[in-house]
Amino acid sequence: MEPSNSREYVTVHHRLGVGSGDRLLDVACGAGLAVELARARGATCSGIDASQRLVAVARDRSPDADLRVGDMHALPWQDAAFDVVTSFRGIWGTTEPAVGEVHRVLAPGGRIGITVWGHIRASSGGWALAPFGLASPVKREHQAAMVTLGRQGAGEELLARYGFVDIERVEVPFAFEFADAATFARALASSGPAYEAIQDVGEAAFLQAATDQAREHLREGLPVRAEIAVVGYLARKPRRRRPTTT
Ligand SMILES: C[S@@+](CC[C@H](N)C(=O)[O-])C[C@H]1O[C@@H](n2cnc3c(N)ncnc32)[C@H](O)[C@@H]1O
Repeated sequence: MEPSNSREYVTVHHRLGVGSGDRLLDVACGAGLAVELARARGATCSGIDASQRLVAVARDRSPDADLRVGDMHALPWQDAAFDVVTSFRGIWGTTEPAVGEVHRVLAPGGRIGITVWGHIRASSGGWALAPFGLASPVKREHQAAMVTLGRQGAGEELLARYGFVDIERVEVPFAFEFADAATFARALASSGPAYEAIQDVGEAAFLQAATDQAREHLREGLPVRAEIAVVGYLARKPRRRRPTTT
């Protein structure tokens, strides 16, 4: 699943000007490809994710990074420890207080860049996420609450509420790309919302639904490709005010 996301990582790192000298934290770092790419740009990297198994992959990829298993609502770093914090579809409408933690661990003047799903149904590749709809109505309601930050004004309001300035909404390229329908289905099944759907309908039914969706969108001689709207929010923690002289 993850290599498809690299368009998103590269875009946000570029827009934030990530480079050598930056102390960067990736929140909800998953298996750590974004951390690996930030290291390639010269940043000193840290990351946190709730999944022990994903953090093990991230550590394997970036042995010199500070990668921890933990909760984004209680970041285990001191105040002002970072110059840049990123989170790729890691902070959701259901985890808004994590933005307060990001603000705390950023140094004055530090930059934040987060991405969230945009308007999925209006995306040409929105069909790719349709199998998540196999989850029970209660889980679907929770999924809907998760994706609210993509709405116009929602991310801007959230970042402003936690004290960020120079807030900018940017379009971020995102496309799933797989060799064939079965590979797409296997990849989709590895994601969190798929896990929820699989609990309700079983793995075989989920894989079948995803394979059928992808087959409908096959194009001769080309990979399965689904472009989905992703919104990026970039902002900055204000610099410390100079003490006024009298
Ligand atoms: C959609 S995935 C994105 C992962 C990664 N950023 C990427 O681009 O592949 C969301 C991630 O959030 C992590 N997560 C969920 N709740 C969390 C929490 N409270 N604290 C830290 N990580 C959490 C999950 O383990 C998962 O890896």
